[in-house]
Amino acid sequence: MSVLRSQIVGIGSYLPPDVVTNEDLARRVDTSDEWIVQRTGIRSRRIAAPDQKTSDLALGAARAALLDAGMGADELDLIVLATTTPDNTFPATATKVQAALGMTHGAAFDVQAVCAGFIYALAVADNFIRLGQARAALVIGAETFSRLLDWNDRTTSVLFGDGAGAVVLRGGTGEGTPADRGVLSTHLHSDGRQYDLLYADGGPSATGTTGHVRMQGQEVFRHAVQRLSDVLNEALAANGVSAADVDWLVPHQANKRIIDGTARKLGLSTDRVVTTVDHHGNTSAASIPLALAEAVGDGRIRRGHLVALEAIGGGLAWGSALVRW
Ligand code: UT7
Repeated sequence: MSVLRSQIVGIGSYLPPDVVTNEDLARRVDTSDEWIVQRTGIRSRRIAAPDQKTSDLALGAARAALLDAGMGADELDLIVLATTTPDNTFPATATKVQAALGMTHGAAFDVQAVCAGFIYALAVADNFIRLGQARAALVIGAETFSRLLDWNDRTTSVLFGDGAGAVVLRGGTGEGTPADRGVLSTHLHSDGRQYDLLYADGGPSATGTTGHVRMQGQEVFRHAVQRLSDVLNEALAANGVSAADVDWLVPHQANKRIIDGTARKLGLSTDRVVTTVDHHGNTSAASIPLALAEAVGDGRIRRGHLVALEAIGGGLAWGSALVRW
């Protein structure tokens, strides 16, 4: 049986140059390198310069992904940009990227699922391609999450960073088996009853301000490992494969302990897990494509590998995707 699949034909990333270490943060709030490393695995993160906006980071990643794909923006039908930190309240930051790329046709819009944003955006674009509504799509995760931080709050300010990653999807045919190249399946969930566990205490409708990140960290942690292992098992079952078939787990990078706990629950050894949280921090919607770009760039992820993606964040919203590279 011939089926349409979204094949990942290009990948790129962009990180702002400014590195902020744990020691730098310990000079601003009552924290220490030892606490941050022990509780999160984070050692440093990149922070966007004051004049760098989310669209600038997104554009850097988008250009790199198109170059890697050997494609021009004129070949794209769709841009889906996952972000929690748009340049402006409206319009969609994706339209700014569209214009900067010189793409004058098709559609560009943003998706908001906070840290799960890249999985949500990938699912949207994958469905457009599989339905034949787009032949090629750019999926971007881009954040200037530092703009949402209360720099006096040590419980959140040490956790996040800025960056962007992007993939180019192009429709190709497969046999409808897990051996097909491309996105095999995506699985999305949310549970709005947990809205207050992780949110920004502002917004155009609520306060007229942007607000700052507020999080009940322990509660989010408690949900994370269970929900992430469940949604990964859902992806494996949907494709008739097992954890032993997975070459690489590329998780959302929030906390090394969450990543290790999820891998352990699945029975995946840590040498099959891509971890960048130590030098990226939590970059929200950008974390998965940033980690993917690093592992593809250094040759760990290669053509034919089975790659599992997962993320959870505010909402709570979470999801997974299984991709044959
Ligand atoms: O990407 C979106 C999803 N988000 C997540 O997945 C985040 C999930 N949560 C977490 O990663 C962890 O809960 C945190 C890293 C946020 C916190 O780690 P924890 O082990 O859950 O620590 P805790 O909140 O239980 O705090 C333990 C102690 C507290 O002090 P007391 O009450 O025991 O005296 C905190 O006040 O650590 C204190 N603390 C800090 N100390 C030094 C909290 N933040 C800091 C800090 N430096 N930065």
